[in-house]
Amino acid sequence: MSLKKITVTASGIYDVLIGGGLLRHCGGYIQNVTEAQKLAVITDDTVDSLYGKIVIDALENEGYDVCKFVFPHGEQSKSTETLAKIWNFLCENGISRSDCLVALGGGVVGDITGFAAATYLRGVDFVQLPTTLLAQVDSSVGGKTAVDLDGGKNLVGAFKQPKLVLCDTDTLDTLDEEIFVDGMGEVVKYGMIKSASLFSELEQYTTETLRKNKDVLDDIIAQCVTIKRDVVEADEFDTGERMLLNFGHTIGHSIEQYYNYTGITHGKAVGVGMKLITAVAEDNGMAEPGTYGRLKNCLSYYGLDNDVEPTPAQLAGGCINDKKRFGGNINIIICCDIGASMIKKMPVEAFFAMLAEYTE
Ligand code: NAD
Ligand code: GLY
Repeated sequence: MSLKKITVTASGIYDVLIGGGLLRHCGGYIQNVTEAQKLAVITDDTVDSLYGKIVIDALENEGYDVCKFVFPHGEQSKSTETLAKIWNFLCENGISRSDCLVALGGGVVGDITGFAAATYLRGVDFVQLPTTLLAQVDSSVGGKTAVDLDGGKNLVGAFKQPKLVLCDTDTLDTLDEEIFVDGMGEVVKYGMIKSASLFSELEQYTTETLRKNKDVLDDIIAQCVTIKRDVVEADEFDTGERMLLNFGHTIGHSIEQYYNYTGITHGKAVGVGMKLITAVAEDNGMAEPGTYGRLKNCLSYYGLDNDVEPTPAQLAGGCINDKKRFGGNINIIICCDIGASMIKKMPVEAFFAMLAEYTE
């Protein structure tokens, strides 16, 4: 199986490599992008037990002095408390300005390690070794880093591009079905916002058939990273086109909040968000007829077709704190057709009224 390479040119230039077996060779790849003598691997307990040794061995084989910080898995660890522990760990282990952090894990590890790299000693290098589908297609690329506050997710963060992203797609074999499916929500999103051909390809598979077909899955991950790369290059700091990546997320976040971040996964909530906004768009003449039906069917192939309890009106209320809200206006992402999306700025009240009148 051949490796795929996608180069991102933003405030930093770096490669995203995609393929099997990359973790075993990560030391050599990291040597090509940093002068570091010491590496600090940051990971969670689940990923550490699966891949910690492989990565530490691969780094030590290249002569690196390696230290490792492990925190409990889960979103609750993406906190200022864990961040402070990471800062102190880096200091205690003598990590200097010329050294490098290694984020080994899903989006939680990537986001907090990236933010530690952005802030420790006013900035040190970091590389991403993403091990979930969501992290490989989305969070490891593009330089958004953050931690959560009690008041909401990702409220403190920075833009900090990694020096390298190694997507070892063999790691996806050990993912629980639910976590794999969560990443598929973002994959379907990429097809919807930017690529009719990717979407058509997704219509031919299911979770089961895609997981068995590694070459196809690697190629789909590469298509997603290419789309994300193009969007990030056009709008690194999220003031315009990058908001398209938020398709389905405004309502999705509202659903996650309604269920207290426990009753429904992020991917499923985004799936409901994408469906609802597309149904509203189609009914209001803003999307091609049939767009909603194809989206609904495609989501169902990946187990993302669940219904939720809150009504559209209740969900509208939950969108009030969305980061895409500016004063009295909110930016809504609409897919006018499969593979074609736009940002529609509308008064918050008009958005609420549109949703409130809507019943699926
Ligand atoms: P996660 O990092 O919590 O990983 C999910 C679970 O999978 C964890 O329990 C983890 O231990 C486990 N895991 C990871 N890799 C595994 C593997 N290969 N095999 C078995 N288990 C494995 O969650 P996630 O879905 O990867 O990421 C979600 C986070 O990403 C959220 O905090 C979200 O805000 C963030 N995010 C950031 C961006 C961005 O642009 N920075 C984009 C999207 C999401
Ligand atoms: N995941 C959204 C973004 O990177 O902008």
